[in-house]
Amino acid sequence: MTEKEIVKQTVFEDVLNSFLSRRGLLKGAVSLGAVSVLPACSTTLKNEPAAAEPSTLSFTELEHGLDESFHVADGYDAQVLVRWGDPIFENVAAFDPASQNEESQLQRFGFNNDFIGFVSLPHGSQNSDHGLLVVNHEYTSTEMMFPGSPKGTELNTEQVDTDIAAHGLSVIEIIKKEGSWQLVKDSKFNRRITPATPMQITGAAAASDRLKTRISPDGVHTLGTYGNCAGGVTPWGTILTGEENVDGYFIGDIEANPEAENYKRFGVGRSYKNWGEHKDRWNLDKNPGELLHAGWVVEIDPYDPESIPKKRTGIGRCKHEGCNIVINGDNHVVAYTGDDQRFEYIYKFVSKNTYQPDNRTANLDLLEDGTLYVAKFNDDGSLHWLPLVYGRGALTPENGFNSQADISLDTRKAADLVGATPMDRPEDIEVNPSNGRVYAMLTNNSRRKENQVDAANPRAHNNHGQIIEFWPQDGDHRADVFSWDLFLLAGKPGSIETKYHTGISDNGWLSCPDNVAFDQLGNMWIATDGAEKMGIADGVWATEVSGPNKALTKRFLRTPKGAELCGPFFTPDDQNFFVSVQHPGQDTSFENPSTRWPDFSPNMPPRPSVVVITKKGGGRVGS
Ligand code: FEO
Ligand code: CA
Ligand code: CA
Ligand code: CA
Repeated sequence: MTEKEIVKQTVFEDVLNSFLSRRGLLKGAVSLGAVSVLPACSTTLKNEPAAAEPSTLSFTELEHGLDESFHVADGYDAQVLVRWGDPIFENVAAFDPASQNEESQLQRFGFNNDFIGFVSLPHGSQNSDHGLLVVNHEYTSTEMMFPGSPKGTELNTEQVDTDIAAHGLSVIEIIKKEGSWQLVKDSKFNRRITPATPMQITGAAAASDRLKTRISPDGVHTLGTYGNCAGGVTPWGTILTGEENVDGYFIGDIEANPEAENYKRFGVGRSYKNWGEHKDRWNLDKNPGELLHAGWVVEIDPYDPESIPKKRTGIGRCKHEGCNIVINGDNHVVAYTGDDQRFEYIYKFVSKNTYQPDNRTANLDLLEDGTLYVAKFNDDGSLHWLPLVYGRGALTPENGFNSQADISLDTRKAADLVGATPMDRPEDIEVNPSNGRVYAMLTNNSRRKENQVDAANPRAHNNHGQIIEFWPQDGDHRADVFSWDLFLLAGKPGSIETKYHTGISDNGWLSCPDNVAFDQLGNMWIATDGAEKMGIADGVWATEVSGPNKALTKRFLRTPKGAELCGPFFTPDDQNFFVSVQHPGQDTSFENPSTRWPDFSPNMPPRPSVVVITKKGGGRVGS
């Protein structure tokens, strides 16, 4: 063990011991949450493997592996429902990757599907065999999309137009007939939403002078969405989509920009697209304020194909992974969202007005006005929600905040000033409908140093991530103080410090939790992005969240080579489980991909696709 490793080990032990001590584990008060650690720690953390008790997740676990195909546990069917390029309207020709253009792409399912939301048809029903699927197309992998495998910075004008049209979202009507799902191509609901779709800026920052640009003279009307990563479905049947990595779509000189401070704090500096060489909109030298129009949570009403999506600036501007809602006991709505970058924060937004079960029209404006808070995770197991309100604390003109609009626009800076806890890349955050606790996927943070660890982010050089749970003691999500705990520390047991149920199998460990879904029983379904570096495919693992099988993660499915798994989502009856296979074949090429899933045709590159999983013979997924 080198001196450096010894220092690392000691720091980890100190942090872990203080953490465990605080949770009562060392006193034997808690027999669950078994921790497997490096041998040096094992004497102080002795835990006998506990035998798992009968589980609501009785499926036969899938083995680890890595190959060209998609695999699901025995006893389940996986149907590829829709692929990049598939027509979503009537009378559209079959997809030909050799002849792509903007007009054609606008009639088809977009690239790199991520978040999936299912809402029942008709609205207000709980139908599980007919509904609308709303899917994010987070970004494109142009080297897998166009012949010749151009990088995103090498696109010609026609490719840029096609590329833009492959971003945004798709809304598609789907129906299950004789056990098989199909698209309803003549549906009035089907819609492509793209970076060019007219949208409206609402809430604290609407009409701010900083948002007035050549494209948006009023700072209210704006165009489109891109970088749409995860999201959520609201109780009133709208979709929330998070604009995440929007900065890389721009070119231009940041130093000379009036928003230089904002853009630097946002992480601008790396262009992975050359859209700005062909479109002034994405050239910050010509359109300096445009990047302030991105980085929001956008609300979309899929039941009204003419509706104008709304950017909800009250929820703050950052690299939103997604956004999920809970209706509080007093009918205020609380939205949770994470900012997915290393050392960024977790937020909650509390609506000013209250949810009205019988007034959808009123609910459609609920996210327009409210209060934003950022999380401070204390080592004693408490979580303080710090309000980001103009005039309070440091959020004053002396620090550059002249209105609540400035706080919406400069959310990260405001959160810095109030002392929020920098996290290990907050991805999906969701409330478990069964126990009311909030679960955040913290995917990884390779840059956290030994002197930067804390109880909530306890590992330096964190390549595998953790899941943190937090909850209001009395069930009031508006409360200023919550409690928190580490649910699991991911990674391969034995190779690093991990935390799982000691009864997990050799296939039960995972790496880089990213998206999450809960079934109606409250079971947690974890999707990963980054397991392949460990020689195993990404996929989904399921676990109960409490009781004797807590954190007993079991592998349920795995992706083809190169892909991450996104967007897990259940129909209301838990009998259909939708998942997104994103970027299959990543880091190879259009001509010579590492997989040609799902078509396995020599003329077709691998295609990002939505898969729907059902139990053979019917029944709840997982049983
Ligand atoms: Fe788009 Fe945070 O993953
Ligand atoms: Ca993600
Ligand atoms: Ca989710
Ligand atoms: Ca990710």
